Amino acid sequence: MRTLIVNIKELLQIRENTIKKVSGVDMKVLPTIKNAYLLIENDNISDFGKMEDLNRITADTIIDAIGKIVLPTWCDSHTHIVYAGNREGEFVDRINGLSYEEIAAKGGGILNSSKKLQQTSEEELYLQSSKRVEEIMVLGTGAVEIKSGYGLTVEAELKMLRVIKKLDENYPIEIKATFLGAHAFPVEFKNNKDQYIDLIVDEMLPKIAEENLAEFIDVFCEDGYFSTQQTDRILTAGEQYGLIPKIHVNQFTILGGVQIGVKHNALSVDHLEVLDRNDIIALKNSHTMPVALPSCSYFLGIPYTPARQLIDAGLPLALATDYNPGSTPSGNMNFVISTACIKMKMTPEEVINATTINSAYAMNLSKTHGSITKGKRANLIITKPIPSYGFLPYAFGSNLIDTVLIDGNKV
Ligand code: NIG
Ligand code: FE
Repeated sequence: MRTLIVNIKELLQIRENTIKKVSGVDMKVLPTIKNAYLLIENDNISDFGKMEDLNRITADTIIDAIGKIVLPTWCDSHTHIVYAGNREGEFVDRINGLSYEEIAAKGGGILNSSKKLQQTSEEELYLQSSKRVEEIMVLGTGAVEIKSGYGLTVEAELKMLRVIKKLDENYPIEIKATFLGAHAFPVEFKNNKDQYIDLIVDEMLPKIAEENLAEFIDVFCEDGYFSTQQTDRILTAGEQYGLIPKIHVNQFTILGGVQIGVKHNALSVDHLEVLDRNDIIALKNSHTMPVALPSCSYFLGIPYTPARQLIDAGLPLALATDYNPGSTPSGNMNFVISTACIKMKMTPEEVINATTINSAYAMNLSKTHGSITKGKRANLIITKPIPSYGFLPYAFGSNLIDTVLIDGNKV
């Protein structure tokens, strides 16, 4: 099966396979080809170049992309899209003046979602979550990481991870699973937090490893949630089962979670709405990708991750949605790129690098996703006719996607 896309106004994010991420000033550079073609063979990108260099190629399908821009699909490296029900009641509480922390303190927040999830069957949870996967595919997401963390019992955490596995089996986009048992302390462990950590370490982890249900391990390292010492213990235990750390740090408070992440060679440290010099120093000379979640800042009205400080210090940056029922009920990566430009002063080139090549790195998909590279998966966004790629973040809220291809097939 061969599909040929011709007359592409501009083909974005052309890379050699050896480049795994872009950092600092290099993030301002987005390699492109104007008036291009791209050939897809058996799920993969097999060739691309300038139209004038296109030799006679026979193809089963030809797509004329005149006036349209083609780019790799978004990689969303941080979501919690397996959840039950919603929390629009808390949304109204916040409109009326309560903070995210105050809502959590009165039994809302993560524990509210966890109660709902525990009462929901695996089949129903799959059904609700699959709708969200279908929704984000249409919005141009071609790979997504999904976390557990609304179960908080052995049984319910396994239920979430099995749903994630089933989604991966049934949908063509790449889905990566993260174990986030350390998302919040269940009420029954309020006065004996170490006992809940024992449960994670002694019961949850061995079962997850046995069923091969996760590739990554996450901890919500935050005041009132998990301390740096507890985070350290959980990551150490996860590593013994081969799980790679990706952690929630610095959402509200600087606790030293970034340093714990770097110490464990975390693939990413996510949130970073608050940040200091020591965090930047720790991230320099590390392999850890900082990840910002601007839709979460937008929804909660909290500070935006200081992207300029990170990038201007020479660091890479990735962007993801954080799609979840409490802090970010949106899986729209198109909104993420607009918001990062508007609120975080990132350029269109920087946001496209942050949501393709760098976010592929943040979910261990550098070999197959995140750029237009021969041999990588043919996961592509074809836009509607637009004047330039800068129009994508600029025209916020408009749907500018004409077609999404996953493994060369139209969604
Ligand atoms: O990444 N911060 C922790 N976890 C989620 C929110 C979870 C929730 O409120 O349900 C986040 O923002
Ligand atoms: Fe999150």
